[in-house]
Amino acid sequence: MRETEQRAARAYNEQFGNEPDLVASAPGRVNLIGEHTDYNGGFVLPCAIDRRIAVAVGTGEGGLYSADFDEMRRVGDKDDSWADYPRGVGWAMGEAGHEVGRFGAAFSGDVPLGSGLSSSAAIEAATALAIDALFGFGIERTDLALLCQRVENDYLGVGTGIMDQYASLLCKAGAALLIDCRSLEAQSVPLDLTAAGLTLLVCDTRVERGLADTGYNDRRATCERAASTLGIEELRDATERDLGLLSGAALKRARHIVSENARVLEAVEALENNDFDVFGRLMYASHASLRDDFEVSTPELDTFVKTAKAHGAIGARLTGAGFGGCAIALVPEAKTAAVTNAAKQAFAEHKFKDPAFYEFVPAAGAELAQPKS
Ligand code: GLA
Repeated sequence: MRETEQRAARAYNEQFGNEPDLVASAPGRVNLIGEHTDYNGGFVLPCAIDRRIAVAVGTGEGGLYSADFDEMRRVGDKDDSWADYPRGVGWAMGEAGHEVGRFGAAFSGDVPLGSGLSSSAAIEAATALAIDALFGFGIERTDLALLCQRVENDYLGVGTGIMDQYASLLCKAGAALLIDCRSLEAQSVPLDLTAAGLTLLVCDTRVERGLADTGYNDRRATCERAASTLGIEELRDATERDLGLLSGAALKRARHIVSENARVLEAVEALENNDFDVFGRLMYASHASLRDDFEVSTPELDTFVKTAKAHGAIGARLTGAGFGGCAIALVPEAKTAAVTNAAKQAFAEHKFKDPAFYEFVPAAGAELAQPKS
């Protein structure tokens, strides 16, 4: 078992007084390209990261325990804490007609919280996989992802798309995942960064944001209005020609979606051809579109992208929802230290918070670490 998984199992034992029935874990993600396209029925290209949330569960005594916060919460009602994620999963399963019995769960993880690396999807996905196995429901992974999305949409009231939960449950190690968010079909796209001599550098601006209090729901509403003006279901179906029928914010948001969907497909082709220069250019173009048309960037994210470019990154962009959180850069290995140092310095000069940096390779999706015996 991984370290986080062992910690969760130990915590379960300490809190509930016996061995857990099983342990599951699920990763956070970075999105390589394809932002805000998921809830428009479009394309995204995330990969899982080697930071996970593990959960140990058993059918004995009920309760939700976080080893990281050293805190026990009841399975019961919503209380605006971390425990709402696993509670929401139980709720969504019940809504889907599955009879969730009494269970106890202990969590432990190392996904940075609230920084746009999908810690919430990780805890939802780990819980969903664990409860599914614990009660033997046999739910397909894609349906587990949809259940987890319901937690966000209908339990927590954030209109997120399917990307994060889908990525956490279905990504494979050593690959990115092209997801068609309308059909929910996906294709693994091998991504061997080490062989290409590249680092996937993540800059956490440490500007925290909860999606509920940002412009996320507002962006989604504007996209839906633009689609209805065009007489289509989703902006996935909008063409460049259609854009002429829109104006103001609707035009800008729709222009981003149309161009971003095209970039995702080009990016996949670039990866298939091992053409990282093209891939990198698409990342920069994606960032510019998110900054100028979708208007979800921040001075911190822009500063990182600009600095990374000036110091040799072949591509960089904000990742996730924006409004703070993280940016990523593809950097030749030999230049990674220079990019990191220059970004630190630029942040200091602007009197931004001290950023955190991570390097990731595409990691495995959710797994049962210790199947029910
Ligand atoms: C958040 C949401 C996703 C997606 C991204 C933006 O991560 O949870 O569904 O919309 O923002 O691409």
